Amino acid sequence: MAKIQTKKVPKSSSPLIFLLHLLSVGLNCAAYSLPEKYFINCGSDTEVTSGNRIFRGDRNSDSISFSEPSYPVKNSSQLPDTLALYQTARVFDQSSHYEFDISSNGTHLVRLHFFAFSSAKNLYNAVFNVSTSHPFLLLHNFNVQNSSQSPVIKDFFLSITQGKFCVYFRPQESSFAFVSAIEVFVVDPLPLSSIPDNGPHVSPIGTKTNSYPGIHPKALQTIYRINVGGPMISQENDTLGRNWIPDDRYLYNPDTAKIVGPIANLNYLGIASEYTAPDSVYQTAKHMNKNNSRLSNNFNITWCFM
Ligand SMILES: *[C@@H]1O[C@H](CO)[C@@H](O)[C@H](O)[C@H]1NC(C)=O
Ligand SMILES: *[C@@H]1O[C@H](CO)[C@@H](O)[C@H](O)[C@H]1NC(C)=O
Ligand SMILES: *[C@@H]1O[C@H](CO)[C@@H](O)[C@H](O)[C@H]1NC(C)=O
Ligand SMILES: *[C@@H]1O[C@H](CO)[C@@H](O)[C@H](O)[C@H]1NC(C)=O
Ligand SMILES: *[C@@H]1O[C@H](CO)[C@@H](O)[C@H](O)[C@H]1NC(C)=O
Ligand SMILES: *[C@@H]1O[C@H](CO)[C@@H](O)[C@H](O)[C@H]1NC(C)=O
Ligand SMILES: *[C@@H]1O[C@H](CO)[C@@H](O)[C@H](O)[C@H]1NC(C)=O
Repeated sequence: MAKIQTKKVPKSSSPLIFLLHLLSVGLNCAAYSLPEKYFINCGSDTEVTSGNRIFRGDRNSDSISFSEPSYPVKNSSQLPDTLALYQTARVFDQSSHYEFDISSNGTHLVRLHFFAFSSAKNLYNAVFNVSTSHPFLLLHNFNVQNSSQSPVIKDFFLSITQGKFCVYFRPQESSFAFVSAIEVFVVDPLPLSSIPDNGPHVSPIGTKTNSYPGIHPKALQTIYRINVGGPMISQENDTLGRNWIPDDRYLYNPDTAKIVGPIANLNYLGIASEYTAPDSVYQTAKHMNKNNSRLSNNFNITWCFM
């Protein structure tokens, strides 16, 4: 189950939309060999492997460009291998952007990584907007919380047409912006076709009002990506490098649900495939924990998201 927030520049209030099925993003293996897959290690001149992707340093890449003024910063402590991607970052004191050449129309995943540390600048103090040339405002007045000792990763699904694609970083007045890593890759064939263009509009208290039309041209931001009944699935085990978190902490009443699985043999039908989500997502589920010694078995399973 994925909860998705749509954002588009001219609208100030972003309606919340629940897509009560998996955010279905198909990908066949060949997609990774398409020309526009950008995995960028910002502020670095070295290659780092993270998950199943190789991130190239932006200081010696000829396939992407970024505007000056900007400069690299480095965390002087040696980070563990699992965090090697976050040893460096690029800092922008003024509005700047990365520019990518996109060679095919389609849904792209744009993933931004932020890992704050203190160097020449204290990256925790950065407050900035991130937007794109399409034109979507992805993050506004964004700041990495001091409490966060782990990377903050933001996933966006954007419908992009071929040509130049820019990601803009705009610091708030008297502040600056930074980014640790950027991914831009196509997730076609398929993707948004499996997400309905019309979704139920769910109010914050959970009542379904009317339908919300025109989802496809919006930028979709992943807010929660939940693996129901199963463990955390980290980027290494996901075809699109996504993280999935267990649902337990969102379950309103743990007594209402019981784990199903793991199911050994999956039989994919229709649009779902092992690229929509890893097998392990489908191998577990939860069902109603009915119990004849209850007064009534007329209840629902509720998950709460803040
Ligand atoms: C991409 O979309 C644009 C605008 O919709 C269109 O003009 C162009 O022909 C499309 N390119 C491809 C390769 O489909
Ligand atoms: C490098 O990052 C780690 C993790 O955030 C932090 O604990 C450490 O203080 C940083 N080192 C410097 C020199 O900022
Ligand atoms: C975060 O930490 C930095 C220094 O470590 C400090 O200057 C800043 O005020 C802190 N911000 C918050 C919101 O606590
Ligand atoms: C950041 O975005 C907000 C919301 O659209 C806007 O009010 C603000 O002016 C933007 N800040 C910068 C520095 O572009
Ligand atoms: C990936 O999945 C395998 C098999 O389920 C598991 O053993 C391994 O720990 C997982 N790796 C990560 C990084 O989650
Ligand atoms: C059913 O409910 C009773 C009373 O609350 C409890 O003792 C029992 O363990 C429950 N059975 C199952 C299978 O959950
Ligand atoms: C589902 O259960 C919760 C908690 O018991 C309750 O507050 C809510 O009204 C129920 N919702 C529906 C649609 O039955």
